Amino acid sequence: DRGRYRHYMLKEIHEQPRAITDTLEGRLLDDHVLEAAFGPKAHDIFSQLARIQIVACGTSYHAGMVAKHWMETLAGLPCDVEVASEFRYRSHVVTPGTLFVTISQSGETADTLAALREAKNLGYAATLAICNAPESSLVRESDLTLMTRAGPEIGVASTKAFTTQLVALLLLTVATGRYHRLDKAGETAVVEALRRLPRSLEAALALEADIERLAEQFVDKNHTLFLGRGPQYPVAKEGALKLKEISYIHAEAYPAGELKHGPLALVDTEMPVVAVAPKDDLVEKLKSNLQEVRARGGVLYVFADAGVNLKSGDGYEVLRVPEVAEVIAPIVYTVPLQLLSYHVAVLKGTDVDQPRNLAKSVTVE
Ligand code: M6R
Repeated sequence: DRGRYRHYMLKEIHEQPRAITDTLEGRLLDDHVLEAAFGPKAHDIFSQLARIQIVACGTSYHAGMVAKHWMETLAGLPCDVEVASEFRYRSHVVTPGTLFVTISQSGETADTLAALREAKNLGYAATLAICNAPESSLVRESDLTLMTRAGPEIGVASTKAFTTQLVALLLLTVATGRYHRLDKAGETAVVEALRRLPRSLEAALALEADIERLAEQFVDKNHTLFLGRGPQYPVAKEGALKLKEISYIHAEAYPAGELKHGPLALVDTEMPVVAVAPKDDLVEKLKSNLQEVRARGGVLYVFADAGVNLKSGDGYEVLRVPEVAEVIAPIVYTVPLQLLSYHVAVLKGTDVDQPRNLAKSVTVE
């Protein structure tokens, strides 16, 4: 039931604070992530790990890309991420102590499931599924599971499944990272940020009216570019996927530092450029990339917090996202990009919940 919402997608975007609260329920104790949340074998497996291999498709793959940053900066665990359709059809060098992690909303995606089966033959130390469907094949066939509790996701465009996957992956980062680089203070900081996350998302959702106005600038465009750096690069990729999927506007995401290696040639007044720019170690670098865009006449739409010294005017439109702890910024900055693609699609009159040529669950190759 869509309730008061015009589309399931909008309902599901607004359900995210609730879905995240549910996903955290029973998995934290004071300032501690409960290892047993991953299953009875979690302790034996996590305490022996040397490496993580993540495999997924589409939006779930983008969640994995964010997790790689968390794993390598917070946990100190080497982490690789690959799309399932590539992983399943190539040779692998498996190093001892590698945990094979799949991420999937449906748990029935053909390529992800085939990759999991292949991983078992390849001799990975153990398998873990992060999934939203408890009865799914992926869950049944994995050693460990962590369910996202997003509830049914009806819109083909994945929204609340993605942000709850990120929460689950952050829990995994802590639960594995404590055997490596993550100390007690680091764990406490992550748990505090996670507890504040539902409220931070409410604050991000409050930007909707501004984003609805912004959407008007995109309706008549044929191409858009999304930029981010570090863990915000996958957020930019997810923003671009959402826009192309439901509004049929061509959208590409680039790590901002790659601009001058090619895509800058495309930039003109007809190609809006969206940037995700929380205040972090990379923001000054990102700002100089934005100036390169501006110098070619590109019009910039920048999502940034109050700590970033950028002003609207002269080809820049700056939307203020609430200031949040750096670790959860990828989750918070996802929300305005979801709202942007939704409102562009509504203005274009597309079938938001059932975009052409796409299925909710891709159970065939
Ligand atoms: O059910 P899964 O998470 O395995 O699905 C993976 C992709 O098919 C899915 O995320 C797809 O990219 C979405 N339609 C994106 O919004």
